[in-house]
Amino acid sequence: MTFSQEAFVETRREHSIPALKTERLVLRAPCRADAKVIARLADDRRIAVNTVRIPHPYGLNDAEQYIASVNRQNDDAAFLITLDGAPIGACGIDPRVGVPEIGYWLGVAYWGQGYATEAARAVIDHAFGALQHEALQAGARVSNPASRRVLEKCGFQWTGVQLTRIRAINSAAPTDRFRLDRRLWESLRSWGKVSRVA
Ligand SMILES: CC(C)(COP(=O)(O)OP(=O)(O)OC[C@H]1O[C@@H](n2cnc3c(N)ncnc32)[C@H](O)[C@@H]1OP(=O)(O)O)[C@@H](O)C(=O)NCCC(=O)NCCS
Repeated sequence: MTFSQEAFVETRREHSIPALKTERLVLRAPCRADAKVIARLADDRRIAVNTVRIPHPYGLNDAEQYIASVNRQNDDAAFLITLDGAPIGACGIDPRVGVPEIGYWLGVAYWGQGYATEAARAVIDHAFGALQHEALQAGARVSNPASRRVLEKCGFQWTGVQLTRIRAINSAAPTDRFRLDRRLWESLRSWGKVSRVA
């Protein structure tokens, strides 16, 4: 594929993913120019051990592979979370796992300020709205109370515990499982309107 063909494919991919604007954040599709900053933000063991797929250490190649692999089919929804134009983390919906699953991470410097909850709510609204999903699932390691709290604040209901393979520890770990159905999401929508900016 020539460079111009690649650029065309990337442009088309980005266009299929809307930008979501929240009170403080803009969520948009990641593009190749974001690889360096994603690699810098994600290269932290505290992030990797709490996610299923993020390796540690995490380098430029990993970021490039991530960017190339996401948003390839219609119901893919991988967003970079940006604050004042600068990437601070990522949030997305994986549609390939039965009930679509939400996942997210933030650079450590941005923890504790409500950004994950704000971003997750925007992606959840997109999942039930534009993508018309009927339910979402999510998981948080039992040792990760911050992520559990994010899910609770977004309305997710606990469904049980299961062992989940975590790439960064090359092992399985107990994970709390959660689910959010359309009907509950509709009743919680008073949390605020998410506007489309592109
Ligand atoms: C999980 C993560 C995304 C949270 O991001 P964040 O922006 O700090 O989250 P928020 O500020 O929106 O909410 C965090 C909540 O957890 C609470 N919390 C944080 N640490 C906690 C702890 N040790 N015990 C109990 N609650 C805790 C916060 O007080 C807050 O709840 P509150 O608003 O009721 O006070 C971030 O820590 C992260 O990227 N972790 C690594 C990757 C990860 O865990 N991803 C999720 C896997 S699906």
